[in-house]
This record gives sequence, structure tokens and C-alpha cells, in this order.
Amino acid sequence: MSAEPARSATAESAPGAGGANVPRHVAIIMDGNGRWAEKRGLPRVAGHRKGVETAKDVVRAAGEHGIEVLTLYAFSSENWRRPASEIADLMNLLRRFIRTELGELADAGIRIKVIGDYQAFERDVVELIDGAIGRTKANAKGTLVVALNYGAQAEILAAAQQLAQESRDGAIDPASIEFTHIEERLGTHGLPPLDLLIRTSGEMRLSNFLLWQAAYAELYFTDTLWPDFDADALAVALADYAGRDRRYGGL
Ligand code: FPP
Repeated sequence: MSAEPARSATAESAPGAGGANVPRHVAIIMDGNGRWAEKRGLPRVAGHRKGVETAKDVVRAAGEHGIEVLTLYAFSSENWRRPASEIADLMNLLRRFIRTELGELADAGIRIKVIGDYQAFERDVVELIDGAIGRTKANAKGTLVVALNYGAQAEILAAAQQLAQESRDGAIDPASIEFTHIEERLGTHGLPPLDLLIRTSGEMRLSNFLLWQAAYAELYFTDTLWPDFDADALAVALADYAGRDRRYGGL
């Protein structure tokens, strides 16, 4: 097995379409919707509703910065632990988001991609998601990846199970398995390496998000609650990223 990570430092440090030091791929853990609502004496759904507005603004701003891929953690595989009413609210917001925003995203040349097991959602939501993916699959101006019923450990486990099966079938020699074989079996296959991972609301953990992909990503944490995050806050995060010295284990 190769001792080298699958991605070379050269590929990882390639500038984004927006120029030098613009990350090609940014991922966001959009945290703090509930606290934003509670602080205002509002139901949690009001925070999620405002959170969707923030997501729309940030998608737009990301495109303006020349970010090629924006990955948003919209529903984790652990979010099923929430009350049924909140899950229903999130699903309704997702339905509404696709119905009202898809046209604009499609016209703007954005490709929509989903990571995670969204097939577990209700039939009509799955159909809406499949429709959004199908309608935008040839778009090339940028990619919006939405993580839905996503968990990184399950994603890596599925890749390992596939490789075990392929080894058993004789399709692959176990001794020749490399980092790239895992990467090719992750939901993010084909996307540029993750450069910057942002988490809002002051929590400092990855919460089972993009664990493999974050190996050499820069991490950025802000106390700002997601509904209060905006294009200016994104610009601050990008300026911070631009000042980072990415060494990938070298000097
Ligand atoms: C975290 O806040 C947020 C979520 C679990 C859901 C994120 C979803 C959205 C922003 C809306 C859906 C997005 C799209 C693109 C349709 P929290 O509820 O954990 O907040 P808390 O930690 O303050 O309770």
C-alpha cells in the first residue's frame, strides 16, 4: 500500500476559479438555528426557516467568490433523534427550498449533488431531490452539494464493505488497495479536495461530517449562529483561510 495520501500537495493547493487562495471546495456545518430562535422566543422552525435564507445568500456569495463546490450539512444521520415534528419541519423546508429555488440555481448553471442516504426520506422528497439532481446534472458553473441523511462513518464503512466484496469477488487484489480506492467509493468522488470547513455557533467538533475529506482541510469556527451568518461573514472566513499556511505535513 502506498504511504502517500491520495492527493498530492500540488493538486490540493491549486487555486480556485476565483484566483489564488480562494478555496475550491468549502463545506459548512450550519449550526445554531435552534438557539437563534430560542433567543427570540420563537419556535425552532423559525430558526431553520431563517437558516434556509442564510443558505441561499451564502450559495450566491460563494459563486461570486469563485468557489467551485459548496457542501452544506442540511440533515445528518443523527438528526433522526430529533422530535418527529422538527424532522417534519425540516423536510417541509427542504421541499419548499427545492420547489422555489431550483429554477434559479439551474439557470445560474449550478449542479446539485447529494451525499448521504436520502433514499430513506419520504417518497415525494426523494422524487424532488432526484428531479433537482437530474435537471442540473449537466451544469458546470459550480456545484452545490447537500448532505442529507449523511454520516461520514457510514460513508467510509460503505466504501470498506464495497472493497471487501470486490476483493472476495476477485475484482481487486486486497494487497493493492490504496487511498484512492476508498476515495473513489465516497459520495464526494470526483469533487475537488475539501479546502475549508466552516462550523457556526461556537461548537468545535466535526459531528460525523466529511471525516475522510477533512484530513487536510483548514477548519474555521465562528460563534455566529447560522441564521446570522451572511455574505460578509463568509468573506471574513475566506480572508482567514487566505492567510493560512497549508503544509500538508511538510515544512
Ligand atoms: C443546526 O441547527 C441545523 C440543522 C440541524 C439543520 C440545518 C438545516 C437548514 C439550515 C435548513 C435546510 C437547508 C437547506 C439547504 C434546505 P440546530 O437546530 O442544531 O441548532 P441548535 O444547535 O442551536 O439547536
